[in-house]
Amino acid sequence: MRDAQPTAIQLTDYKEPAYEVVETHLRFELEEEFTLVTSTLKIRQRGESNELFLNGQELGLESISIDGRVLGEGEYTLGDESLTLTGLYAEHTLQVVTRIYPAKNTALEGLYRSGGMYCTQCEAEGFRRITYYPDRPDVMSVFTTEIIADAGQYPVLLSNGNPVSEEVIGGKRHAVWHDPHKKPAYLFALVAGDLLVTEDSFTTCGGREVALKIFVEPRNIDKTAYAMDALKRSMRWDEDVYGREYDLDIFMIVAVDDFNMGAMENKGLNIFNSSCVLANPATATDAAYQRIEAIVAHEYFHNWSGNRVTCRDWFQLSLKEGFTVFRDACFSADMNSATVKRVEDAGILRTVQFAEDAGPMAHPVQPDSYIEISNFYTVTIYEKGAEVVGMYHKILGAEGFRKGTDLYFDRHDGQAVTINEFVQAMEDANGVDFTQFRRWYKQAGTPVVDVLTSYDSGAGRLTLTLRQHTPDTPGQTDKQPLWIPVQLGLIGKDGSPLTVTPDQEEFWTESSQVLHFREAEQTFTFSGLEQEPAVSLFRDFSAPVRVNYQQSRETLRFLLRHDSDGFNRWDAGQRLMLSWIDDAREGRFELSDDDISVYRELLNDTDLDPAMVAYLLALPSESYIAEFSGEIDPLAIHSAREEVSGALASALRDDIVACYQRLNIAREYEPDPAHMAQRSLKNLALSYWSRTGDDGLAAAQQQYQSADNMTDQMAALRALVNSGDRMRAQSALDDFYERWQSDPLVVNQWLSVQAGSAEMATIEHINDLLAHPAFDWRNPNKVRSVIGAFANQALSRFHSADGEGYRLLADAVIRLNESNPQIASRLLAPLTRWKRLVPSQSQLMKAELQRIMQQGNLSKDVFEVVSKSLA
Ligand code: BES
Ligand code: ZN
Repeated sequence: MRDAQPTAIQLTDYKEPAYEVVETHLRFELEEEFTLVTSTLKIRQRGESNELFLNGQELGLESISIDGRVLGEGEYTLGDESLTLTGLYAEHTLQVVTRIYPAKNTALEGLYRSGGMYCTQCEAEGFRRITYYPDRPDVMSVFTTEIIADAGQYPVLLSNGNPVSEEVIGGKRHAVWHDPHKKPAYLFALVAGDLLVTEDSFTTCGGREVALKIFVEPRNIDKTAYAMDALKRSMRWDEDVYGREYDLDIFMIVAVDDFNMGAMENKGLNIFNSSCVLANPATATDAAYQRIEAIVAHEYFHNWSGNRVTCRDWFQLSLKEGFTVFRDACFSADMNSATVKRVEDAGILRTVQFAEDAGPMAHPVQPDSYIEISNFYTVTIYEKGAEVVGMYHKILGAEGFRKGTDLYFDRHDGQAVTINEFVQAMEDANGVDFTQFRRWYKQAGTPVVDVLTSYDSGAGRLTLTLRQHTPDTPGQTDKQPLWIPVQLGLIGKDGSPLTVTPDQEEFWTESSQVLHFREAEQTFTFSGLEQEPAVSLFRDFSAPVRVNYQQSRETLRFLLRHDSDGFNRWDAGQRLMLSWIDDAREGRFELSDDDISVYRELLNDTDLDPAMVAYLLALPSESYIAEFSGEIDPLAIHSAREEVSGALASALRDDIVACYQRLNIAREYEPDPAHMAQRSLKNLALSYWSRTGDDGLAAAQQQYQSADNMTDQMAALRALVNSGDRMRAQSALDDFYERWQSDPLVVNQWLSVQAGSAEMATIEHINDLLAHPAFDWRNPNKVRSVIGAFANQALSRFHSADGEGYRLLADAVIRLNESNPQIASRLLAPLTRWKRLVPSQSQLMKAELQRIMQQGNLSKDVFEVVSKSLA
């Protein structure tokens, strides 16, 4: 907690560390009430300075010695969150003993208890809650860890690297681990508990036999198979696609219930939020399976993009996160449907990331300052960062991109580097100058591209004019033009692709069909066209920009039918649907026969991937619609969307019912792409059907009763909850809780299906959920399931006109501010958007932010977000 105004850290203030830590020996004595940590460091001077700066937070300092001599109080300087030694020589052995209290650690950073086990979370700055240490990613050291704990209670003792020894002496188990790879402290991990393990093995391309182990609490041992399978596929994929081989004899995953994030890539010992690793058909939905596959891959891929090559400082966070998200996205695309993955990722970008870019927390992919680094694990760093990496792929092609990553890994193995070094490797490997492209890392805000086309039938020429500008963001004005890759296609009247080569060939890459748009305004011409083509721009979402391009509904329906680019088919449909919603808001919505027939065709097109059909038929979410609105009016958005949804459901009713019946056939549950795709379309059909009357609701009830997997059961429950039929909803909910109350991960789904539903999520109901025995403020997953789902999904309730929704969220933030500042700060996001709401709501939101600001003792995390929001 802060006592003074917290100060911002600046990228330009970066200084190399004075000392390196050649070796790190850690000894943990885990006692019931506290833990003693003995840290023995071999340090070596690097430059001129002989001052050693160590970070430390909430530590009890027991003793400190240099080269075996205990230091007296005058021989070091103990700051609030630091320990400094001056007048040192070139090399020393430093030993520090600290006492910490893991059982009282509710922030879930550093060493803490979750359930009956001990675990750690050190990224970004949690290691300083374990011992005094130069806790910065450019200090890389070889770690040896000794863990001593009660042998009966803690049969499993784990840390990074390879096991060295284990023995029991006088009722205490002693385990020693050694990690031969140099790493920063943020990748350190320790686990102690009474855990069961699932084992497998993997032989790397170089012939190394790797033991794979997933550790879980005993009740979860039947939920590890899918993660293990995903792990093996990830390891093979990284060899095949990036030439990256694993580098230890053992790779471990541990599932813990209390975890702030999804998972963490600690070297050789990944720690996972149990919701992101545990699954079996009865308890996990298809969405959970896909999340598990992606996160297992993501954390595994960090072994190279993050661990072997790490970040110099936290301003470089996207170097590892953006790149690794790009890697896991390609993996998921390869394992499942590439188009579906692209649709999902563009959806996240257009809702959450565009909103961040348009709000008070807008920042570049490489920020230039922060108050609390935990606040910068954002969709901009992650998802926009991944899009920026993806644009190299678009510009250079797969081969050129691979040359770049090979050079990057080769050059920087074992180093802590900057984003610039990644760009440099791309340039050097390909002989391309990315000077202008580097602006993508420095400029915040979503670029807007305005498009104009005209066709000259006499000359057979299409003219395409593109204009770009990036709006001002807090602290940033006068943005320069970006290098924007525009993947492009032209389509003939009969729906067949036309050859496209612009007359300005120097701006065209034929192999990838990419137009290089690099100036504030550029005009391209396409000659030799016999007929006016339909223009398909930004195929495959080739750049993270907003596009203003007026195309008629007729053209949109044409693209929706004929575009060979699956992403743009979907995009055309979304634009069409957004225009319906606009009409509905103006009280003049009517589905045309042409609209109905194109959707009927899609619904009955059995050549299309059913998962894709489901996405094509799904209306944009309320938050997606909000991002495409000027002033946001959540209630108007909600009722317009409901009207359109109801109209579509009744217009297509017979086809929807037929589609449902065609797909609703009993078969063994398999979490593979083909089966998941069928379930997604079937359940989309059910959600429409259940809005059309009693037989649809009866079908949902029937599916709820007979489902043998959580995907179908939850989809039916959701349909009932959203139906507005209180009786049916409540009886299904009661039955569900009765069945699943002993499984916390399933209960979390039960909480969020209610908290995120516009039909159910009244303030009274949210308060009931918060008071329910299944709820627990100390568990981040539960907080997200209720408060997070309410504020991010049940928009028409959260934004209720009396401001009660805002008050509830602010109360939650205030309550969590001290116990878990990271979670408190993350919950705040919906309130930070206050300036974009209609005035009445906007004022109510602002008032709640002000109320939070007036609290004493705001954590840095909450302070930064609230103060920037009110600035
Ligand atoms: N390194 C992060 C985990 C992390 C983030 C720890 C912030 C501490 C603070 C990890 O690699 C990660 O990015 N996890 C994501 C999931 C991933 C699939 C994008 C997460 O936890 O949400
Ligand atoms: Zn990551």
